[in-house]
Amino acid sequence: MATFSSIGDSMDPGFGVYVHWPFCAAKCPYCDFNSHVRHQPVDQPRFVSAFLTEMAEARRLSGPRTVTSVFMGGGTPSLMDPATVEAVLNGIAKFWHMPDGIEITMEANPSSVEATRFRGYRAAGVNRVSLGVQALNDRDLKFLGRLHNVEDALKAIGLARDIFPRMSFDLIYARPNQTVEEWERELNQAVSYAVDHLSLYQLTIEEGTPFYGLHKAGKLIVPDGEQSAVLYEATQEITEGFGMPAYEVSNHAAPGPKAATTSPTGAMATMPALVRARTGG
Ligand SMILES: C[S@@+](CC[C@H](N)C(=O)[O-])C[C@H]1O[C@@H](n2cnc3c(N)ncnc32)[C@H](O)[C@@H]1O
Ligand code: SF4
Repeated sequence: MATFSSIGDSMDPGFGVYVHWPFCAAKCPYCDFNSHVRHQPVDQPRFVSAFLTEMAEARRLSGPRTVTSVFMGGGTPSLMDPATVEAVLNGIAKFWHMPDGIEITMEANPSSVEATRFRGYRAAGVNRVSLGVQALNDRDLKFLGRLHNVEDALKAIGLARDIFPRMSFDLIYARPNQTVEEWERELNQAVSYAVDHLSLYQLTIEEGTPFYGLHKAGKLIVPDGEQSAVLYEATQEITEGFGMPAYEVSNHAAPGPKAATTSPTGAMATMPALVRARTGG
């Protein structure tokens, strides 16, 4: 495992580093994140070199500072080789003070998960995984254009729980024709698999996506404001009942440490920088 020094400047409030991996195995029809499908293999060593160049520039601007968390988001960072993840983390530790034990999160898609890769990420220093589960029924996973089924999702949750000290997963609700009873059943099942964190997003129709075109043509109808409010309230009730209330609109956690860095907004993910250093605690 990469080890990071624990000597730092106690006056520095520190900052979180966000690393974006902008590639996916397929583009989901609802997604407007900065994510692209490449039919040729991505040149990962070249990306490492670009990340290091950008970090050197960020270090020149920031001066010596302390990193308080790292979030590797996407796209699908679980398409990165473990050696790529290790090189990026070692680069961060080379440019800034990186105390031992800080939260290092990686987003992973259930379709690109297998035990050897997960163990490789863990050995590289990743200590928290955020899985894009999205739904716990095969019909809706298919509708959302996902490459995994429920069985893959449950396998990925099990592996994440075994290999990483902390894990979270994402679900998308307020899907077309989703009844509150169906969502309650699915969410009750989901919270029973959760460890200490869940992200529950209402489906948003983003301009420029295939769902946007279908929605505009009246072929994809999402719950209206009132139905969405009912689904939202059911979400709060169930997660509170399981001791995982919301601490942000879509993020739920058990009491104790919250995720140091949650996934960035779509707007942030479309910024051109490969590495974004975010100031603040
Ligand atoms: C950019 S994705 C990265 C995670 C990973 N690539 C995946 O999809 O499994 C982060 C999360 O944003 C959420 N998301 C993306 N587009 C959305 C949309 N249009 N409506 C609601 N949630 C969305 C999904 O839950 C997804 O897991
Ligand atoms: S939702 Fe995730 S897997 Fe799907 S296209 Fe967006 S970033 Fe890629």
